[in-house]
Amino acid sequence: MTVDATTSPGRLTDRIPTLGGAAIIAHLVPPRQFVNATLDSYRPDRDYPSQGAAVAAIRNFVAGWHSGGGGLFSRKKAPAPLPGVYLDGGFGVGKTHLLAALWHQAPGRKYFGTFIEYTALVGALGYAPTVQLLKGASLLCIDEFELDDPGDTRLMSRLLSELVASGTKIAATSNTPPNALGEGRFAAQDFLREIDSLAAKFTTIRIDGLDYRRRDIEAGARVSADVAAELATIDGVTTLDPFDAMLAHLGTVHPSHYVSLVENLAAVGFTGVHVLHNQTDALRLVAFVDRLYDAQVRIVADGIPLDTIYPDDMLAGGYRKKYLRSVSRMIALTSEPV
Ligand SMILES: Nc1ncnc2c1ncn2[C@@H]1O[C@H](COP(=O)(O)OP(=O)(O)OP(=O)(O)O)[C@@H](O)[C@H]1O
Ligand SMILES: [Mg+2]
Repeated sequence: MTVDATTSPGRLTDRIPTLGGAAIIAHLVPPRQFVNATLDSYRPDRDYPSQGAAVAAIRNFVAGWHSGGGGLFSRKKAPAPLPGVYLDGGFGVGKTHLLAALWHQAPGRKYFGTFIEYTALVGALGYAPTVQLLKGASLLCIDEFELDDPGDTRLMSRLLSELVASGTKIAATSNTPPNALGEGRFAAQDFLREIDSLAAKFTTIRIDGLDYRRRDIEAGARVSADVAAELATIDGVTTLDPFDAMLAHLGTVHPSHYVSLVENLAAVGFTGVHVLHNQTDALRLVAFVDRLYDAQVRIVADGIPLDTIYPDDMLAGGYRKKYLRSVSRMIALTSEPV
């Protein structure tokens, strides 16, 4: 895409997204970064045997599509895989990578979205039309299953039950509910309890390990010496906003629409980054950073380093895991491209 240098950067606050059902459906594919993710390109960390075991479990799940069908796979006597897999683990261990790799292997019609995208789809289309649309797919991938809102969780549970009954397989990754302090097996238990009607249909795959994004990046988030000048060196559409104006704007857009807020952007610039004082702003930023990360939009910012914006009291609370994941993603997005 060519961009008129005189009109770039634009302002994020001038972007007022609306997103209908058709646009949401068009987005139900793995994020750009995972277009080429495969099981073979996942490098299990030998220090964490659960990673290699996860790959094996996913291969077994994939084999379920082919067994009985067309001789692609040898008929080993293995128990029939359950219709669902649930990847449970810390941030940056490759859950989304494995989920996308699985999606790529599924035959026929299939969907890949975050929990929030599916709930937005139901919001835009209504429940029955959503079931109608998704029914009959070979696989539905749900990244970052949220347990924060009981209503949404129930809705999704009901939807998944109907889809499983129609023969669709389900793969999901975890998110931490409020007050599940730190990172532990609570997440898996809560997930299964909340979707109790489905629980018996899921194989839980626990993945331990270190944040893969930090294997190479030791430093914190990079602070730019001159945001505007740096944005000018970036090819493509960029935006530049004061940090506070950006936060205020996020409050006017539903988080399920953040995905179109970042559309076509190569980079976003923020000036005057500072410590966040309220949880509402912080959670909106988390959701926004998730969309920036999915779309691999670079962040160029000045003020304090973005990895220091969540204060200790927030980091000690129920959303700890979300904040740490957000920090990990901001460090990756501010680092120099390799
Ligand atoms: N073992 C691995 N081998 C190769 N690439 C990996 C591995 N683990 C992670 N990655 C890569 O590291 C990046 C982060 O992984 P990914 O986003 O899949 O982690 P995640 O567990 O979903 O993290 P988050 O909690 O942030 O959602 C991706 O680019 C992914 O392709
Ligand atoms: Mg992920």
